[in-house]
Amino acid sequence: ADRVPFYGTHQAGIATPAQDRLAFATYDLTVSGTVAENRAALRQLLQQWTAAAAAMTQGKTVPGDNDNPAAPPADTGEAYGLSPANLTITLGLGGSLFDKRFGLAGKRPAALADLPKLPPENLDPERSGGDLAIQACADDPIVAFHVIRNLARIGRGTVVMRWSQLGFGNATGNGGGKETPRNLMGFKDGTRNIPGDDTSLMDGHVWVGDETDQPWMRGGSYLVARRIRMRIEAWDRDFLQDQENVFGRAKYTGAPLTGAKETDQPDFAKKAAGGDPVIPADAHIRLAAHENNGGVRILRRGYSFTDGIVPATGELDAGLFFIAYQKDPRTQFIALQRKLGAHDALNEYIQHVGSGLFACPPGARAAGTGWAQELL
Ligand code: HEM
Repeated sequence: ADRVPFYGTHQAGIATPAQDRLAFATYDLTVSGTVAENRAALRQLLQQWTAAAAAMTQGKTVPGDNDNPAAPPADTGEAYGLSPANLTITLGLGGSLFDKRFGLAGKRPAALADLPKLPPENLDPERSGGDLAIQACADDPIVAFHVIRNLARIGRGTVVMRWSQLGFGNATGNGGGKETPRNLMGFKDGTRNIPGDDTSLMDGHVWVGDETDQPWMRGGSYLVARRIRMRIEAWDRDFLQDQENVFGRAKYTGAPLTGAKETDQPDFAKKAAGGDPVIPADAHIRLAAHENNGGVRILRRGYSFTDGIVPATGELDAGLFFIAYQKDPRTQFIALQRKLGAHDALNEYIQHVGSGLFACPPGARAAGTGWAQELL
């Protein structure tokens, strides 16, 4: 019960229940050969990564020589003997992969167009982008970290890690029958998320279908990652009623301000005695809700992070490592974030400081097949 199947129509780690821990990393290819050589190197890398990922998710060591006393073991060993802890490993391809190095420009999906500037972001290039991305999630932090480390090691000479992010305490409520987890602002996060086991919502909003211009992406999805810092110290000085107005929900129960229980549907039309809407005009849930966005939804799968303090201010460097999956970021994440960026009351307390957009191909179908085989 602690193993998630690796092979299948879709990659695991999207619809499957969110685990407690995240290790996310992006990698850049360092190849410098001809297009044919570079393409062969990429194909080989993805085959090796797929085989290693399949093994790790089933609790096995990275394939290769682990017993030769005269050589470094193929597996670094820190997860040896541990259960796979529901490990899922999800691959994403960045827009920068579809360039002259690999002759892949004609295979770049229109939906993988670079994200536009999305004010009020303040992005750090050292925490943004990457040719490849790996989302490793598990209920054990060392099992998740083991993945991003060993994939870098397998790819030595072909890839270097560009940036990485650890996350904890899933902030999505994406199934599993657990209580909705809380984010670092103390609010339940994930209440009205797309449930991963709702196949009709998943097909409608998350899995790429026949509408794509790139058939190799059918059954895949697009991952948007945003490292969102929270101004925790300022938030902690804000009074309860204002905190609740920022989201449009009650802090402790998670209920919409127009209801009594977490599961009550928000009533965006309801007015208070003075005539103002009960869920304020700039409340996060009013701006983000599908009812107010022409039916647009995304699957959120973010994790909290805390990475020490910001030296200049002494404030915590903590927040939400936001991850969202969707069919087409242009009409989903970008459209929503444009609106949130312009109007969300939450903007006073957050800042987007890292960013990535990745095309996640469909699942590797069976043992011996590689990730993104149809692309290469
Ligand atoms: C809902 C927190 C960023 C999209 C919510 C809820 C909370 C929350 C507490 C209400 C509970 C729920 O239904 O999940 C946050 C925090 C953020 C953040 C703390 C940043 C640090 C974003 C971003 C997007 C987004 C960047 C997309 C561009 C949504 C959507 C909903 C939602 C679609 C569901 C609204 C509904 O249908 O009621 N968020 N969020 N959020 N958020 Fe965020």
